[in-house]
Amino acid sequence: MNIVFYGGGNIAQAFIEGLINSGYKKNNIFYIDRNLKNKNKLKKLKIKSLNSKESLQIDLFILAVKPKDAIHAYKDILKNYKNPKIVSFVAGIKTNKYKNINKKIEFLRAMPNTSSKFNLGITAIYNSSFKKSNLLKVINIFKRVGIVMQLEKESKIDTFTGIIGSGPAYFFYLLKIYEKKLLTLCNGDRKEVNAIIVNLMKGVGLSIKDGKDLDELIMKVASKKGTTEAGLKSFKSNSINKIFEEGLNDAIKRSKEISNEY
Ligand SMILES: NC(=O)c1ccc[n+]([C@@H]2O[C@H](COP(=O)([O-])OP(=O)(O)OC[C@H]3O[C@@H](n4cnc5c(N)ncnc54)[C@H](OP(=O)(O)O)[C@@H]3O)[C@@H](O)[C@H]2O)c1
Repeated sequence: MNIVFYGGGNIAQAFIEGLINSGYKKNNIFYIDRNLKNKNKLKKLKIKSLNSKESLQIDLFILAVKPKDAIHAYKDILKNYKNPKIVSFVAGIKTNKYKNINKKIEFLRAMPNTSSKFNLGITAIYNSSFKKSNLLKVINIFKRVGIVMQLEKESKIDTFTGIIGSGPAYFFYLLKIYEKKLLTLCNGDRKEVNAIIVNLMKGVGLSIKDGKDLDELIMKVASKKGTTEAGLKSFKSNSINKIFEEGLNDAIKRSKEISNEY
């Protein structure tokens, strides 16, 4: 399948790298972009810019521009290509906006995250008009870069965006506290600190993968009157869970607000 990324920035690059890691042929991936920095990054990955004069069968367009540029880009695809199938990665712009411009084309919204680059992505899909067989093709492509979740309601994209799309940043933020302590422990050796954080996170991930209950995992680390228990006690008395949950709720709220701005 030939895929064209309209917009070759952060998320397109992460997705493309994940596709390449999974064995997807570079010859079947193209992009349209105007930003020199992004063009150079894609050139390094050996991804070709789409030449409008080329008579190429394009099976899928992926809209990956900022919301302010999305409708222009969408109209540009409709103007230049017959019956395109379009997936929008764009946050905030609801299906209706696109459908009001053209009701006939196959269209769906998807919300990936940048971990797609490592084939550890989580992509939510809300389908409005892809035919079943084409939807399955899209899902199979997306599965190459991670987990795919189908949403039955478009409004759930906001929840997904607030907690998963933004998710990596919350963990980076929390890890900054570890980084600070570790830099002292490791006499400022950032490389060592990063290696420790990577192993810590990998270990946490693999423990959960075993299918264990989170409380059970906590119990395994915390012993009566031990250090972990002291730390956890402090987290509880400072209501860390409530603070974190409020942060997630605010992110979901903001995603909804953005959706209403467009
Ligand atoms: N980044 C994420 O983690 C993430 C996750 C999920 C969804 N998304 C969604 O994905 C979309 C893209 O985000 P991003 O962070 O990848 O943005 P980005 O890094 O700014 O990439 C967008 C690229 O598209 C180019 N572009 C825009 N309009 C164009 C046009 N008419 N012709 C040619 N090139 C054009 C931009 O060029 P200029 O720089 O010159 O404008 C830029 O290089 C957003 O709508 C966002 O909501 C992002």
